[in-house]
Amino acid sequence: MSNTAFHLTGKTILVTGASSGIGRQTAIECAAMGAKIMLTARNEEKLNQVLKELPGNGHQLLLCDLLNTEQTFSLANSISHLDGVVHCAGLVKPFPVSFLNREKIDETLHTNFYTVVELTTALFKAKKINKEASFVFLSSLSGQHPHKGGSMYAASKAAVEAFCKTVALEYAAKGIRANCISPAMVKTPMFDEAAEGMSTQAMEEHVAKYPLGVGYPEDVARAVVFLLSPASRWITGTNLLMDGGLLLEY
Ligand SMILES: NC(=O)c1ccc[n+]([C@@H]2O[C@H](COP(=O)([O-])OP(=O)(O)OC[C@H]3O[C@@H](n4cnc5c(N)ncnc54)[C@H](OP(=O)(O)O)[C@@H]3O)[C@@H](O)[C@H]2O)c1
Repeated sequence: MSNTAFHLTGKTILVTGASSGIGRQTAIECAAMGAKIMLTARNEEKLNQVLKELPGNGHQLLLCDLLNTEQTFSLANSISHLDGVVHCAGLVKPFPVSFLNREKIDETLHTNFYTVVELTTALFKAKKINKEASFVFLSSLSGQHPHKGGSMYAASKAAVEAFCKTVALEYAAKGIRANCISPAMVKTPMFDEAAEGMSTQAMEEHVAKYPLGVGYPEDVARAVVFLLSPASRWITGTNLLMDGGLLLEY
């Protein structure tokens, strides 16, 4: 198994947002495929729980509030050389357009976009990205198909998608790849938060629109593993939409 192109043996992978949801599951799936994982987020207790669940050894926990530029650069300077980076950290804060103000705009863009740019820049500046490394950025179906109330979330994800393509272009000569994954609804704490802002009936109606049902963290994590692995070596600058068939009806 470890000699297939789908394996991650010998690779060191940084996963942001590793304390919860898609990031947590990505860390687990990548470790199961042989990678050494650098887990980062702010919640030490949750990160420690994830660390305990990881198969294999050599994994490391690195606390970092990505909203803090100093902490981001110090993470980049202290970390080992990387073969993969998965940007999962993010938040969702829906507001109708007429409720937006500078503070609300900044909150979403800062967590979902600026942190992605700053960490990527910091890692390249610190020369921590190995040749043939792979970046995977968690965007969202909303980046291409926004929903009411999600203007800043959609804008932040569209910005991530544009940034990802530029990283892909600038680093292709070194065999470094960058791709996005854009899931529709995935059952994580973020899903539960989104559900709180909707009536049960509205949520049930939405969920019923998915021919394959809503997603689970492992569905996304396994696609991340593929994009990190040598099996995807000819894929860069793409955006993989994962929606359980949702868009087929539109
Ligand atoms: N769930 C969905 O339906 C869905 C759909 C499409 C796209 N996505 C995208 O997938 C990614 C993961 O979502 P999820 O559902 O797994 O979310 P989640 O369970 O709410 O996890 C969010 C993660 O982001 C981390 N985080 C947030 N702010 C941070 C900060 N300032 N510094 C460091 N870490 C920070 C959190 O860790 P700490 O609190 O410990 O810092 C947590 O680990 C997000 O980018 C999201 O936009 C999710």
